Amino acid sequence: MQIEVKNLTHIYSEGMPYETVALTDISFEIDKGEFVGIIGHTGSGKSTLIQHLNGLIKPKSGSILIDGVDITGKDVKMRDIRRQIGLVFQYPEYQLFEETVHKDVAFGPLNLGLTQEEADNRVVEAIRLVGLSYDEIADRSPFELSGGQKRRVAIAGVIAMKPQILILDEPTAGLDPKAHGDILQMIERIHEVQQNSIILVSHNMGDIAKLADKVLVMDRGKLALTGTPAEVFRQSDLLESLGLGLPPATFMMRVLESKGIQVSTDILTIEGAEEELYRILTRGKN
Ligand SMILES: Nc1ncnc2c1ncn2[C@@H]1O[C@H](COP(=O)(O)OP(=O)(O)OP(=O)(O)O)[C@@H](O)[C@H]1O
Ligand SMILES: [Mg+2]
Repeated sequence: MQIEVKNLTHIYSEGMPYETVALTDISFEIDKGEFVGIIGHTGSGKSTLIQHLNGLIKPKSGSILIDGVDITGKDVKMRDIRRQIGLVFQYPEYQLFEETVHKDVAFGPLNLGLTQEEADNRVVEAIRLVGLSYDEIADRSPFELSGGQKRRVAIAGVIAMKPQILILDEPTAGLDPKAHGDILQMIERIHEVQQNSIILVSHNMGDIAKLADKVLVMDRGKLALTGTPAEVFRQSDLLESLGLGLPPATFMMRVLESKGIQVSTDILTIEGAEEELYRILTRGKN
């Protein structure tokens, strides 16, 4: 399933004194199975953009083609779009509402028209995929879980619909480092098992550098830059002017370079930095 966004523009409260142009002439493509990271300063339009992709917000102009079908068209059924494109909002745990975890996760699949039995199977699978124990958690109230568990349950509710495109809006916001790492691993696992495209909005450059095949950089409603993580994080001056930093490993290599040490500055991950440091420290030794 492929996404093609063409010349997308969105204006909130158009014609009102407080109208906001949130997106201006955005165009990009996402291929089947691709992992796309979206970064940008606060207010740059990231959430507005992704809510267009599942039809929640309609554009002022431009088009969004999903496998060639324009979802901004009048004839498109929202249910068909939601079946294919799952959106996990920021702080999704606030949207839990059922009396048990099982019922909450089953809500989406039942809504898609699956039978109770099919939905039940999906629930077991999804809860396992987010790293929780079905037996321990299924009959409990979602409200008595820990923050991290609640968030996983909320994410399970979306992946239980097996969307071919999964969009996550800052899924690690407000979590401690351990829970952050766990959620990240979970996202990698979902991508691997469900073989879907993933769109991840994040303020964490290290996470984006590690996971994304392609990065979209937003700035005040415009697409400032796109490319592979290596291409994007090479542009440190531009990123800095947009209020964005570098992945920690890339930053470290830049610092070493500025001290006159010859290192590759295309390093994106901590593992990559380890290898590079090892290479430097053992250089010329054998
Ligand atoms: N419902 C709304 N009504 C009016 N203006 C809005 C609405 N939602 C967002 N905006 C405005 O649109 C612009 C883009 O907001 P958006 O929430 O998409 O940014 P963001 O990149 O997701 O920011 P953050 O990193 O803080 O989540 C901002 O100027 C914001 O104030
Ligand atoms: Mg946002």
